[in-house]
Amino acid sequence: MAKKIILETQLEVFETLSALPEAIQNLMNKAQQARKNAYAPYSHFGVGAAIILENNKIVTGNNQENAAFPSGLCAERVAAFAAGAQFPNLSWKAIAISAGAINKDNTQPIPPCGACRQSLAEYEVKQHVPIEVYFMGTSGNVVKAPSVQSLLPLLFDQSYLQ
Ligand code: THU
Repeated sequence: MAKKIILETQLEVFETLSALPEAIQNLMNKAQQARKNAYAPYSHFGVGAAIILENNKIVTGNNQENAAFPSGLCAERVAAFAAGAQFPNLSWKAIAISAGAINKDNTQPIPPCGACRQSLAEYEVKQHVPIEVYFMGTSGNVVKAPSVQSLLPLLFDQSYLQ
């Protein structure tokens, strides 16, 4: 019989943003603001992301679409690459994400896509400290994951390149 590996992730679901610490409320508010500035003329779906660094500076991003569809980029990676480009030596404490169709209320929490999880995981592996991930719709419940890797078991990282 083959050996079994069981993967387990524990997520916390908060009923409203106000149930979270003030610093996270503020971070999510920044993600909400960023979402409102998303450039999403094709999907009409807006996503905002905000990353808080170890010095409490916040870097935001939103989805940037393109007429050549694959040339666009998700909000999480816009924020991640901005943080990586501008503050290469600062670790991240948390990322907050808000997503939903433009001009609609969405109470369903929307997690980052697989490609964004992989990109975010790179920074978590690099800093050796978990990055908390908070995600929500445009209102309603907020989900907290303790780390990026908890959302991406069996990620591909630099250790395989050696
Ligand atoms: N999008 C994000 O920004 N983040 C995700 O995790 C999933 C999808 C964007 C990409 C595209 O602009 C729009 O949402 C619809 O897929």
